[in-house]
Amino acid sequence: MKKKTDLFVALDFPNVREAELCLLELSPFHRKFKVGLELYLSAGPAFVAGLVNQGLEIFLDLKFHDIPNTVGAAVKQAAQLGVAFTNIHCGGGKAMMAAAREACVAVNLAKKGGGQPTTRLLGVTVLTSLDDKALEEVGFPRSASAQVKRLTDLAQEVGLDGVVCSAQELPLVYSSFPGAYTMVPGIRPSQSSPGDQIRVATPQEARNAGASGLVIGRPITAASDRKQALLDILKDL
Ligand code: C5P
Repeated sequence: MKKKTDLFVALDFPNVREAELCLLELSPFHRKFKVGLELYLSAGPAFVAGLVNQGLEIFLDLKFHDIPNTVGAAVKQAAQLGVAFTNIHCGGGKAMMAAAREACVAVNLAKKGGGQPTTRLLGVTVLTSLDDKALEEVGFPRSASAQVKRLTDLAQEVGLDGVVCSAQELPLVYSSFPGAYTMVPGIRPSQSSPGDQIRVATPQEARNAGASGLVIGRPITAASDRKQALLDILKDL
């Protein structure tokens, strides 16, 4: 049987109070959530560790991009929080990706036997808010899909657990990295507004293209009935 597609609800809120209100509504029946830059900066690592301790599966989406030593050290901290997933920008280069992987593997090894949750490391390829024109503006003449393919090849060579990409690039990603965990943002149920996302797909399209996990924020968190919005999406996965 085909594996079910995971769904991480993006807790993109400015403070703990709003995040907790959302968790109160959704966590009784859904256990996978994403903490990104906004909430992390407001709530801090202790809040993330608290979510992990409640048994929630957390994707810590801080998209590290710095020199190898700094990123390796940051990934070590993220993995020590016990999050299920964290990520780095593949554009930071192979040495940076390798340092991040080494740090993640070392923390996972140290946890072995202790029953603590291990962390998977994903590489962000090309943000789903960018198209070919936006890439050209910042000096990347190749198309978004060619750039995703190139960065996926590197992620696979370095030994990351998978990549973050749009649903449109999933066939390309699996052609070079068949075992990848593919985390797919830019998900919009057919009636929702794309907002700042450009390379979008519906939950069903992403699932049918083989996404391992979906990241969905505003279509759920900004809905008048969040519980119903999430249930409507989950029934199609
Ligand atoms: O509200 P929306 O569904 O657009 O939220 C998407 C979430 O996924 C945001 O938290 C955003 O930071 C994150 N994300 C993304 N594109 C990536 C990686 C993460 O949109 N490539």
